Amino acid sequence: MKVLGIETSCDETGAAIYDSERGLLAHVLYTQAALLAKYGGVVPELASRDHIRKTIPLINQVIEEAGLSGNELDAVAYTAGPGLAGALLVGAITGRTLAFGWGIPAVAVHHMEGHLLAAMLETDPPAFPFIALLVSGGHTQLVKVAKVGSYEILGDTLDDAAGEAFDKTARLLGLGYPGGVELAKLADQGRSDRFHFPRPMLDRPGLDFSFSGLKTAASKVISENESSAQADIAASFQAAIVETLVTKCRRALRTTGFERLVIAGGVGANRLLRLQLQSMVQEENAQVYFPRMEFCTDNGAMIAYAGCLRLLSGQQADLAIKVYPRWSLDQLA
Ligand code: KG4
Ligand code: ZN
Repeated sequence: MKVLGIETSCDETGAAIYDSERGLLAHVLYTQAALLAKYGGVVPELASRDHIRKTIPLINQVIEEAGLSGNELDAVAYTAGPGLAGALLVGAITGRTLAFGWGIPAVAVHHMEGHLLAAMLETDPPAFPFIALLVSGGHTQLVKVAKVGSYEILGDTLDDAAGEAFDKTARLLGLGYPGGVELAKLADQGRSDRFHFPRPMLDRPGLDFSFSGLKTAASKVISENESSAQADIAASFQAAIVETLVTKCRRALRTTGFERLVIAGGVGANRLLRLQLQSMVQEENAQVYFPRMEFCTDNGAMIAYAGCLRLLSGQQADLAIKVYPRWSLDQLA
């Protein structure tokens, strides 16, 4: 089954074709980073309009790169939520309409389920069950995954997401958008032991996170220090987030007795996080699985793949075009 996947939930337009027999055939991505840079973040109306400009050309491109024509596709998968309503509507309208025109089924995909399954596109995919750490701009969750569609949220953020904390602190440091990547680059040139940032909620039991205090602490340290301290601040800040995430992942493995940890979402591209998770799982006799860097952040491949699994299990969308800007992973069947 050849599935076209469309991703438009935030500030990246992605399209991909996944074939249940041959794997990923092609994927293309356009990021609005340059467009949004001068605003320092996502402007929903601008994001929606840019998706309108980019979605059809990207779909044409990915079909061509896969060496197919539109009528050889078997289904269309599109991100229906969570995300920005206007942005989601572009992908949903395009996907649902193309499927109707081609006379093939369509399926509405949960963006975070896409992230969560992205590591399964790699050559050595994780087996079920596993613990997933979802770390993106909008989510920081530990999820117990028994099988596709069976998601129990073990821990969640009480305020900011990890990516949001990276982005807000990057902004305070005067770095460009998207901030997480820029902050991580600056951190590479700094010393992580110069400033001590809090490790939120590590002293308390449970698997929840809280990152807003960390951002406040960063704001104070930034205003009290010269700009020459910026790389050290970035490194110290990154170390605090990474240690917090790694400790909670260790705790999740221990409390469930699971031996596999799967990382997903934009912050999963962070190099320090990847390194420290690798050494943590060695100590725990467990294994960690990462999507390739480009499939940590938003992309169409994960949507085509998640959509394909949903379709193979018999699911499909009716003709109504619906999006779900707020949609919890544990509401999925
Ligand atoms: O998954 P994603 O592309 O979009 C959402 O669904 O939110 O994640 C984007 C988030 C942003 O907050 C971005 O700053 C962060 O992931 N991010 C990083 C890195 N690359 C992306 N944060 C830290 N280090 C990175 N290397
Ligand atoms: Zn995402």
